[in-house]
Amino acid sequence: MRLVLVGPPGAGKGTQAEFISAHLGVPKISTGDIFRANVSQGTPLGQQARAYMDAGDLVPDEITVGMVQDRLAEDDAGKGFLLDGFPRTVPQASTLDDLLLQAGTPLDVVLELVVDDDEVVRRLSGRRTCRNCGHIWHIDFDPPSTEGICDSCGGELFQRDDDKPDTIRHRLEVYYEQTSPLVGYYAEQGILVGIDAMGPVDDVTGRAIDALRRYGQ
Ligand code: AP5
Repeated sequence: MRLVLVGPPGAGKGTQAEFISAHLGVPKISTGDIFRANVSQGTPLGQQARAYMDAGDLVPDEITVGMVQDRLAEDDAGKGFLLDGFPRTVPQASTLDDLLLQAGTPLDVVLELVVDDDEVVRRLSGRRTCRNCGHIWHIDFDPPSTEGICDSCGGELFQRDDDKPDTIRHRLEVYYEQTSPLVGYYAEQGILVGIDAMGPVDDVTGRAIDALRRYGQ
């Protein structure tokens, strides 16, 4: 299955992507994770992306699209994939459509995680991510048993630089200006499914899996 998750920052895309990709048996491809890995390794790609990410702006399409194209060409994506954080603009979506149509493998479904702005701020201000395995925690909603340590692998937890209050507000503005038009774009194609992403993580996962059952998954 070829699936895209769309939704505002903090909607729970990364959290749900872990469960849904495991359920579907397809790789999770997160552009945010790929950029962050490049930033921490100090690669040329990371150096190009860093200033945009720290400011809460989008990395330019010409950098992002080539990176995703390379990742989709890897063997494991041949059986399907879950894209988290891409596309983020209508030009990115249209380029992705062209690539997939050329390969005869169009997208099957786009899940939109719907959540309100106050909840976004609550979720992002308390997020902690494992430096080792990437698992996502929350200091109130899903705390690890020992503060600062990942229960899954014992790795160190960190707070993302772009989760500061001013940057969160700016990322929301960027979402409404540049990314939310994707909702109409995919609705017109008849492949958009809205998921109520308020409430506990397990409930949201259940709604997403129920929606995918309608596609035989
Ligand atoms: P990216 O990493 O994609 O950030 P984002 O879209 O802003 O999304 P987040 O990762 O902040 O949130 P999420 O929806 O994944 O929520 P999460 O599951 O972590 O991108 C970062 C940057 O990279 C961008 O700003 C941009 O610069 C660049 N970039 C990336 N892709 C790009 C592209 N295509 N084009 C250009 N630039 C790009 O959950 C958040 C918190 O809430 C966690 O603590 C979690 O535990 C908690 N939580 C989750 N679900 C629930 C729930 N149901 N109840 C309570 N708490 C919950």
